[in-house]
Amino acid sequence: MKIVKIPSKLSSLSRRMKEKGKRIGFVPTMGYLHEGHLSLIKRARKENEIVVVSIFVNPTQFGPREDFKKYPRNLKQDIRLSKEAGSDIIFYPSVGSMYPKGCSTYAETEGLSSFMCGLSRPAHFKGVTTICTKLFNIVRPDIAYFGQKDYQQALIIKRLASDLNMDLKIKILPIIREASGLAMSSRNNYLTLSQRNKAAILYQSLKMAKALIMSGEKSASKVKSAIRRMILKEKGFRIDYITVADPHTLKETKHISSKVLIALAAWLGKTRLIDNIIISLGRKKC
Ligand code: PAF
Repeated sequence: MKIVKIPSKLSSLSRRMKEKGKRIGFVPTMGYLHEGHLSLIKRARKENEIVVVSIFVNPTQFGPREDFKKYPRNLKQDIRLSKEAGSDIIFYPSVGSMYPKGCSTYAETEGLSSFMCGLSRPAHFKGVTTICTKLFNIVRPDIAYFGQKDYQQALIIKRLASDLNMDLKIKILPIIREASGLAMSSRNNYLTLSQRNKAAILYQSLKMAKALIMSGEKSASKVKSAIRRMILKEKGFRIDYITVADPHTLKETKHISSKVLIALAAWLGKTRLIDNIIISLGRKKC
């Protein structure tokens, strides 16, 4: 396995691999890898000849009062885990090499980024779409893999790739959960043991909402209130948003009729957690 730090070196390497007709699968990450990331790397391994994993804590997607500095990092462990999961190349650039002095161009997806997490993290998605554009230009993947846990992010990146005629496919893979149901996230590392136990309520509330809808509840506001009540029974939570929305446009739904996305973000102490579920009426699986 190779570790490449210089963007232009990876560009040349990718070009050579493409010239040889190799299919490149790409998993962009901010490191501190967990089973969620590893599921993406393993899938990329199955579907491609070359697997590239990037590890880059991207400063432009963090707000001024967010956790950029304290975001968990462990390169040694990430190298071991991504190697075991089957990656061929780790791209580990410096902030200076990705954003050299004078860098003043951004990629931004309007519309989808104005809902949900976009409301409380206004510049977040602009940072995500910019770094993904840059990474895609460097890596030149055939397929890039994202997790459903960051559903809005994955949808925005699909839009970005389509709108900017990028020659790659975006795949969104299912959320990987801890035994308690808590969606895996590098930020779970901030939680104390007792908070980690409490945080399981988020997925339980989504499952309760699914059961409500499956038993005939059509009112999105009733579903949202039920979720809110259930989460707030646990001490220490502050809800950022709960939405019942169209999974393609992210626009809020009032009347639940076919396929809906239920997504939420909540603070538990100083940690912001997100989760979501997609419910298709008339089908058992989601
Ligand atoms: O989901 C993440 O880890 C990041 O937002 C991403 C896609 C790697 C961009 O920095």
